[in-house]
Amino acid sequence: QHHQQNQSGPTPGQNPLGSQGLSTRREQYERNFPVYKQPVEVGCFSLDSKRRFFNDSRQMRYYVEPEKNPNFDLKDGYKDRYVKRDDRVKEKLDHILRWILANRSKLSSRETTASSCALDVDFVTWRGHLTKLLTTPYEAREGWLLAVTKFKGTLYISEVETEAARRERENRTERHEEMMYWGYKFEQYTCADNVHSLPDPGGVVNTNEAFCTVVQTRLADHRLLFSGEVDCRDKDPKAPAPPACYVELKTSAEICTPKQRSNFHRFKLLKWWAQSFLPGVPRVVAGFRDHDGVVVGVETFPISKISHLIKNEQNCWKPTVCMNFCCDFLSFVKRIATEDNPDLVYLFSYEPHRDVTYTVHKDFKYTFLPPWYVEEITS
Ligand code: A3P
Ligand code: MG
Ligand code: MG
Repeated sequence: QHHQQNQSGPTPGQNPLGSQGLSTRREQYERNFPVYKQPVEVGCFSLDSKRRFFNDSRQMRYYVEPEKNPNFDLKDGYKDRYVKRDDRVKEKLDHILRWILANRSKLSSRETTASSCALDVDFVTWRGHLTKLLTTPYEAREGWLLAVTKFKGTLYISEVETEAARRERENRTERHEEMMYWGYKFEQYTCADNVHSLPDPGGVVNTNEAFCTVVQTRLADHRLLFSGEVDCRDKDPKAPAPPACYVELKTSAEICTPKQRSNFHRFKLLKWWAQSFLPGVPRVVAGFRDHDGVVVGVETFPISKISHLIKNEQNCWKPTVCMNFCCDFLSFVKRIATEDNPDLVYLFSYEPHRDVTYTVHKDFKYTFLPPWYVEEITS
């Protein structure tokens, strides 16, 4: 089961049937924490209420600390003040690629023509894709598919929706649909549109709107450029520069029993830590809600303290395993995805409890770099 799978007519490529994929076993990754450089924000962009791209911070929001027991009703507005982003539309890396084209001078090497690497980075991707990589050794439920294309020396990583994920998306219950709204409603209760205003819980929640940071960093010998959505920032003008002033907002079911606390530590805090650690966002503000969608408590979790919080938990996740797995996956990708061709896709696949395997696709089925990007970079 560990060799390459035969999916919809792929070319076997350099991986002969029977060769090993990449192990996802935790024990393999228990070694020293790899070098992870402090992420540096190199830019940002905004997506407006119609999902249009802007090369600026117009969608930035400002955190307004709520009282400790606020009684926010997260159900309010679901029926009449909710504009939901169309999640059937797959944007792939398009917004990041638009940002790159608008900011090429910040990235390109001094002598582009003399360099085989037009961007001076090894990988371009979404933060969310890296979050999935970090949590893979602990992910027992959901697999993933990551498409990789090498173009001008840079490896682009873009997610492909799995069949299982598509089925789940198309078969969500009404309860699940409503609960997905709750997280965004909490953001509305705690964020203002500018430094001097207050949150407006009477407004419309539009999940097309986003503010995204673009950061550069290095994981061992992998130079990374990635973007991630940022919920809001500290509004104090004396707050540190981005990304240190950013705040991640989360909601979670209130914790009433030791079992619930243990599950929160083992599963929720892993996801929260991975998501914010990657771009250097220092804190998560959590709204704990009852079964009826009312926030009954608010608590701040500094990311640097999460690894201590979980140390009492037996059989718990370890940050070093997450980072080492991600690092080894990126090395695996560099070793496999060697042909520089904007139309060629190496498709990496993870199914729980299996190795990561890959297939090679020359038939355009998974091609994701758009012609407007390829042409602009080439010229
Ligand atoms: P919660 O985080 O409170 O669950 P994010 O926290 O990443 O800023 O995302 C904001 C909200 O989007 C989430 O709030 C959740 O409601 C929704 N959301 C994010 N990722 C999701 C996913 N994979 N499936 C369903 N809902 C998701
Ligand atoms: Mg968010
Ligand atoms: Mg959030």
